[in-house]
Amino acid sequence: MKKVLSFTMVLMTFLFTMLAGTNLAFAASEQPTLNPNRILNVAHRGASGHAPEHTMIAYELGEEMHGDYIELDLQMTKDGVLIAMHDERVDRTTNGTGYVKDMTLAEIKALDAGSWFNEKYPDKADPDFVGLEVPTLEEVVQEFGRGSRYYIETKSPEVYPGMEAELIRILEKYKLLGVNGPSSKVLLQSFSPQSLQILHELNPNVPLVQLISYKQPATITDEELEEIKSYAVGIGASHTKIDQAYVEKVRAHDLLMHPYTVNTRADMEKVLDWGVTGMFTNYPDILNDVLKGRND
Ligand code: G3P
Ligand code: CA
Repeated sequence: MKKVLSFTMVLMTFLFTMLAGTNLAFAASEQPTLNPNRILNVAHRGASGHAPEHTMIAYELGEEMHGDYIELDLQMTKDGVLIAMHDERVDRTTNGTGYVKDMTLAEIKALDAGSWFNEKYPDKADPDFVGLEVPTLEEVVQEFGRGSRYYIETKSPEVYPGMEAELIRILEKYKLLGVNGPSSKVLLQSFSPQSLQILHELNPNVPLVQLISYKQPATITDEELEEIKSYAVGIGASHTKIDQAYVEKVRAHDLLMHPYTVNTRADMEKVLDWGVTGMFTNYPDILNDVLKGRND
């Protein structure tokens, strides 16, 4: 009897440690869910307020500034490689021109992904940014490994058939999905419900976030929220389009609410007062400070 009790205690301690460490837990529906009590600090495109977005330096800074997740947007090259880039074209964030889908990885790698930042933000310019490369998804996860968490967006999935399968292949190769949802090192996000459904079919354990782009002040019905809940654990929307009632409605359906892109102290305080469960920010250092202030 004693032996059974001590085995049970060891098992319970192990399970508790696993769940507490990952901040994930299973809901009754078997959907992986995140602990809503922990406010997530998501370094948007890395610490992109301080360094050129989607470069290794920006991601490193995001980690140093206590971001909980590295946010990554994905595009796919002509030869089928997933790279970290926000736009379908390389023009804004490199010295090149053209669509990613028309360029090979070798062509993308020849571009300078840092000098534009020095030109646009001379007060934040740094010689180390000159000549930075566009990273591939695989390079990022090789660099940061299982010690980091990743919040990855499938961009323009209609342009890149197969990008979801390639994404899951890489995440499984580097053991970032774990054996089940609670041990996942990633959250996957998309504006495309179709892309999320494909990801859900490929791996039902991976936690998904439905991004929604509103042109007007946001409203959402209970039916829409329940539909989203059938495949996702949360919603992302612009903080400029939502309000407290929207956040409370999302939370009442036990979905996470992650507004983007919240860059000032005042806006961070505003969305925290509304009850959000995390946010995307170009300034994870400021958000870390705001969160510390609230916990003091
Ligand atoms: O992924 C959340 C937020 O990043 C969505 O907007 O355009 O910055 O990818 P965007
Ligand atoms: Ca994004």
